[in-house]
Amino acid sequence: MIVAAFGESPDDAIEHQVSIEPMPPPALGAPDDVVVAVKSASVGWVDLLMSSGQYQHMASPPYTPGLEYAGVVAHKGPAATARFEIGDEVLVDPLLAGPRSLGAYQRAGGWASYAVVPSEALLRVPRGMSLDAACNLLGNYETAYHCLVARGRVRPGETVLIHGASGATGLAAVEIAKLLGARVLATGRSPEKLAHVRAHGADHVLCTREEDGGVASLRDRVKALTDGRGVDVVYDGVGGEISAESLRCTAFGARYLIVGWAATPLVARGRGQRGAPQANTLPTNLIMMKGLDVLGCPTAISTAHDPSLRPPRLAQVLAWADEGKLSPHVSRTFPLDEIKAAMWAKWRGEITGGAVVHP
Ligand SMILES: NC(=O)c1ccc[n+]([C@@H]2O[C@H](COP(=O)([O-])OP(=O)(O)OC[C@H]3O[C@@H](n4cnc5c(N)ncnc54)[C@H](OP(=O)(O)O)[C@@H]3O)[C@@H](O)[C@H]2O)c1
Repeated sequence: MIVAAFGESPDDAIEHQVSIEPMPPPALGAPDDVVVAVKSASVGWVDLLMSSGQYQHMASPPYTPGLEYAGVVAHKGPAATARFEIGDEVLVDPLLAGPRSLGAYQRAGGWASYAVVPSEALLRVPRGMSLDAACNLLGNYETAYHCLVARGRVRPGETVLIHGASGATGLAAVEIAKLLGARVLATGRSPEKLAHVRAHGADHVLCTREEDGGVASLRDRVKALTDGRGVDVVYDGVGGEISAESLRCTAFGARYLIVGWAATPLVARGRGQRGAPQANTLPTNLIMMKGLDVLGCPTAISTAHDPSLRPPRLAQVLAWADEGKLSPHVSRTFPLDEIKAAMWAKWRGEITGGAVVHP
C-alpha cells in the first residue's frame, strides 16, 4: 500500500493518494538486513496524520505507511542477526524501521506483504502475546510510560485524569497508571467505549456526551470524586475545549501532561506545510493561580534529544508485557485490501484501542 503524495488532509489522502500497488518482493539492501513477512500491522492515528504531512515527522512519498507491525522472518542477509531464524515471530521497532524511523528504512512500513528492516530493529514478541496485540504495544505503551513516568512522575496513591481513554494511547495510559498504583478517572464520549476503559482498569469513567453533562460539568464531577481537591495529574490526548476545563479539575500544584490533540488534529497545514491556525490554547491565569506544571510530552522527539530515555522505558514495557500485565486492545481487524475502510474507521473514531490490518 502506497501514499503517492501527501494529501490536503487525511480525508483527501485516503480518497486520492492511497492505493494498493503490486511490487516485487523487496531486496536485501545491507548484509544485516532481514525481510519480514508482515502478519499484523496497526492502523494508527499517526499513520493517518502522516498521510497528509500533518504529523511533525514526515516520511518521503511515495512510502508505505504502517508504523508498527509484527510478522515472521522470511529472509536474512549474510550478516543478519543470529537472534532470529527464518520463520521466527518478530516485532519491529518503529523507531528503527518504518515511517517513524529517521534513516534509510522509513519508506517501508507494515501495510505491505513484506518489509525490509535492519537486524537491530527486530524484537522478540512478548510471551503469550498475539501478533495483533504486539503491533499495538510499543507506540502506545511507550507513549503512556514517557508521559506518566518520565514526565508526569506519577506516584502510588495519586489520582490521574485521563482524556481520550478509549483510544490506543489512552487505554495504554489507563493500564500503566494502574500499574504505577494511581487511581484513574477516565473520560470519553461513548458509554460503549468507556465500558472497555473500565475493563482495562479505570476506577471511574466520566462520559462527556451532552446528555451526560458534557465537558462543562467535568469540574464538578471530578471534584465530587476527589473530595473537592482535584486530580494530581491530567493526561490530555484530546485538546480543544476539554483542555481548558481540565485546568479547573486539578489540585494545586498538579502536573498537566500534553500528550496530543485528537479533537483538533489539523494543527499543521496539509501537504506537509507548516503553520495552521487551529493550535490549542490554555488560559495562563489558571495555570498561574493553581501553580500547575504544564509538560509537553513528545515521546519520539524527546528520545531523539535524549537517547538514554529509551532503554529503561523499552525494558519496562517489554517486561510488563512478558508478565502478562499489559493487554493492547484490538477492536477491529481488516484485510489489506480494505485498508481504506480501516483508515476511515480510525479517522472517524469507530475504533476502541487499536485496529489491525492483515496483509
Ligand atoms: N505524545 C506522544 O508522543 C504521542 C504518541 C502517540 C500519539 N499521540 C497523540 O495522542 C493523541 C491520541 O492518539 P491515539 O493514538 O490514542 O488516538 P485514538 O486511538 O484515535 O484515540 C483518541 C481518542 O480521543 C477521544 N476523542 C475525544 N474527543 C475527540 C474528538 N473530537 N475527535 C476524535 N477523538 C476524540 C476518542 O475517544 P472517545 O470517542 O471515547 O471520546 C478517541 O478514542 C493524538 O493526538 C496523537 O497524535 C501522542
